[in-house]
Amino acid sequence: MSEGVSIAVVGSGYVGLVAAACFAEIGHRVVCVDNDEAKVRMLHEGGVPIHEEYLPELLNRHRANRVEFTSDLKAATQGAQAIFIAVGTPQSETGSADLSYVDAVASEIARSIDDYKVIVEKSTVPVYTNEWIRRVLERNGVPQELFDVASNPEFLREGTAVTDFLHPDRIVLGAETERAVTVLRAIYEPLTSGAYYRMHHAVPGARTPDDPPPMLLTTTQAAEIIKHASNAFLATKISFINVVANICEAAGADVQDVARGMGMDSRIGPKFLRAGIGYGGSCFPKDVAAFRHVAEQMNVDFGLLEEVEKINGEQKRRFFQKVRSALWTFRGKKIAALGLAFKGGTDDIRESPALEIVELMLREGALVRAYDPAAAARASEMIPSGPQMQYVDDPYEAAQDADAVVILNDWQEFADLDLERLRAALRYPIVVDGRNLFDPAVMAAQGFTYLSVGRPGANSVAMRARQRVRVLRHTADGCARAKPAKVYLRAAVLDAAFRPRNRGPWHA
Ligand code: UGA
Repeated sequence: MSEGVSIAVVGSGYVGLVAAACFAEIGHRVVCVDNDEAKVRMLHEGGVPIHEEYLPELLNRHRANRVEFTSDLKAATQGAQAIFIAVGTPQSETGSADLSYVDAVASEIARSIDDYKVIVEKSTVPVYTNEWIRRVLERNGVPQELFDVASNPEFLREGTAVTDFLHPDRIVLGAETERAVTVLRAIYEPLTSGAYYRMHHAVPGARTPDDPPPMLLTTTQAAEIIKHASNAFLATKISFINVVANICEAAGADVQDVARGMGMDSRIGPKFLRAGIGYGGSCFPKDVAAFRHVAEQMNVDFGLLEEVEKINGEQKRRFFQKVRSALWTFRGKKIAALGLAFKGGTDDIRESPALEIVELMLREGALVRAYDPAAAARASEMIPSGPQMQYVDDPYEAAQDADAVVILNDWQEFADLDLERLRAALRYPIVVDGRNLFDPAVMAAQGFTYLSVGRPGANSVAMRARQRVRVLRHTADGCARAKPAKVYLRAAVLDAAFRPRNRGPWHA
């Protein structure tokens, strides 16, 4: 591996902190700057402010030798060859990205720069932000030979951020001078050469020494657009499958079968076709709005993105209606809410569809007992505990005597629930699953009334048809002797499941 580049990362949020830890992991010397003194102190003392797999290990491994934390932007950037800007770009009132933090950082850098630096934007920003950063430096009298501005968007997902960073699908570099490209290539060389994957302590992932990530070298504008367009496209894929799920529900088909069939086409691909309660988080909602705003500014009609947003809002309301239809009315009903974060594997509750649905249930008078493996502390800052809202440390405690379980995000822990124990805890065995974690037939066999997204209920005509298809699939497989008995057994279990049990008083 190379000797290492001196890097300053400005901002210690999800992107900044993960980038700082990973740059240190691949052999660079990193100073991570944040103006939040309390956070810097916490990081100094060994704390980790976000829930992210491998992050504590990497910070422990490199703290004190290859990664430092400070609130002194001037000192941090003066010693660096490359400065990565990873500050927030929140949504402004107009829907556009608020670039005031990027502006402030660029001005600060301009005041302290005294030798050549590559200034790299890593935050998600609208096209031409590079140009603005350049102008800020020039307006502050910084000569052109002292800096270049480049774009290196990040594609990491919360929850798997470290793995995504170290084992990326691609590394996108928008840089237009040879000297900027040289520094950036040196930074990513341990990944692009495959050297990192040979190291015994390497974080495991999809990349190997023989299959290192490709690097796409392009213009700064193209790199900026790649980031926005990628997030907007993924959000579109999700909204698309959510509408398809609604069609499946009406037609009695299973959206998971449909998504599987679509995803087998290599031009479509199987990922991001999981129907649910809509996308959330700190990126998709904000980036779809910002990209739509960019299009507007450039006089391009991108009405498609408005539809994507509309469908996403509608999907949450539709799911809420589904919960209501299972309970008839919310007033006084005890609901076990499993999931508060915007998805499983993270403690992030920003733009969480789960929280929105909890809020709607509370507004209609439900008594909610909520469990999330990581996000309860953050959620309780938004929705404090009180007579109507309780946070508990265990999913079965949440379910105790509840009128229904509502599944709102996709932690593996929820998919692994002991169904017998869950049913025994509940007052009525009703599960409304916004993430399709369970097989409807299994849930019915366990005695649950189970509603999910875009899938027929286990006792519907469509689900019986699906079982028949399974039977045909097994026999067609040719394992004739053993399979029919199994199939017969399964059919018997299913028939038993079709008989309603434990039905609550509000069922017609
Ligand atoms: C997203 C992108 O996936 C990253 O590539 C990008 O770097 C990041 O935004 C960012 O711009 O910083 P993230 O917000 O962490 O990452 O979350 P995702 O895993 O993409 O999920 C986003 C939302 O879509 C979640 O609410 C998730 O539950 C939902 N989702 C995802 C679905 O409803 N269905 C799917 O099939 C996939």
